[in-house]
Amino acid sequence: MRLAAKDLLGLQDIGAEDLTLILETAGSMKRLLSSPSKKTTHLQGKFVITLFYENSTRTRLSFEMASKFMGAASANIAAAGSSVGKGETLIDTARTIDSMATDILIMRHGQSGAPHMIASMVEASVVNAGDGMNEHPTQALLDMYTMLEKKGGFNGLEVAIIGDLAHSRVLRSNAYGLTKMGAYVRAAGPATLIPPGIEKTGVRLCGSVQEACDGADVVMALRLQLERQKSEFFPSIAEYASFYAVDEKALACAKPDALIMHPGPCNHGVEMPTTVYESDRSVIREQVTNGVAVRMAVMYLLVARRNEP
Ligand code: CP
Repeated sequence: MRLAAKDLLGLQDIGAEDLTLILETAGSMKRLLSSPSKKTTHLQGKFVITLFYENSTRTRLSFEMASKFMGAASANIAAAGSSVGKGETLIDTARTIDSMATDILIMRHGQSGAPHMIASMVEASVVNAGDGMNEHPTQALLDMYTMLEKKGGFNGLEVAIIGDLAHSRVLRSNAYGLTKMGAYVRAAGPATLIPPGIEKTGVRLCGSVQEACDGADVVMALRLQLERQKSEFFPSIAEYASFYAVDEKALACAKPDALIMHPGPCNHGVEMPTTVYESDRSVIREQVTNGVAVRMAVMYLLVARRNEP
C-alpha cells in the first residue's frame, strides 16, 4: 500500500484508504515511541526541512523530533532571520530549499493555498503544516488518531467542534477527514464567525454550544484566533467565553465519557476553563504525544512512496 499523492496538502482531496493507511502506520510509530530507543532508520539519508512563516510550538517541534527519531538530517527555517527578510519570494525560497536535495518540505504559511502552489514547483514532497484559514491536515490526523485510540472507530462517532469556525483550518481538516471515515461533525460558534459554505466540508451547524454537544462522543474547542481577526466579531472576550466556552454546563449535554479536545495553544478561561482542560476526560496532552507518531507516519509513507520506482 502506498499513498496516492507525492504531497500531503489537505484532507479534502485524500481518500479513506490513505487516511486508514496513515492512521494504522501511526499506531506502529506510537508503539515504536514507547520502546526504550525510540529510533528507526526509516529516513536515514533523507533531508527534511521545516519552513515556517507563522509561529508554532507543537507542529514544528513534533516534525523535528519525528525526523530525528527516524534518522533524517533536518533543519528549520523561520521567515524571521532568513532571506525572506531581504525580500526573497516564497517561490524562490522553496526552490532554493529544493536545490539542496530536500526530500520533505514541511511548510506553514499564512496564505491559504501557499503549499499547494509550491508543491507543483518542487521535487520535494510538501507537507502542509497549516495554510491560512484553509487546512491543517496533520493536526486533524493526530486528532483522528486520538479519537480512534480512545473510541475504537469512527463509524457513527458524534464530534462537536466549538468556537471560531471562520478562521479554523483545524475545523476544516477535521470535517473532511472525519466525515470520510463515517463520523458526524456538528459545529457551533458566534454567527459572526461562521464562514459561508462551511456545510460543504460536511459539518452540521448548530444554533448553540449545548445543541452541538448534545449526546456528543467528542467535544473539541477551537482556539480563538485573534491574530487573524481584523475587526470585532463579538462584544468582548468575556461575553464570548460566557456563550462559547466548553465549560461544565456544555459538557453536561455530551455523553458522560465524551473526550475533551483542543488543538492548542489554549486561551485558558476563554475557550475552556482550566478545570476542563485539566479534567480526567481531557486528552489534550495525549493529542500532543500522538502528534509525533502521526508525523512520523506521514513522513515514513511519503519517503516510501518516493523510494518506489
Ligand atoms: N495546534 C498547532 O498547530 O499548534 P502550534 O501552532 O503550536 O504548532
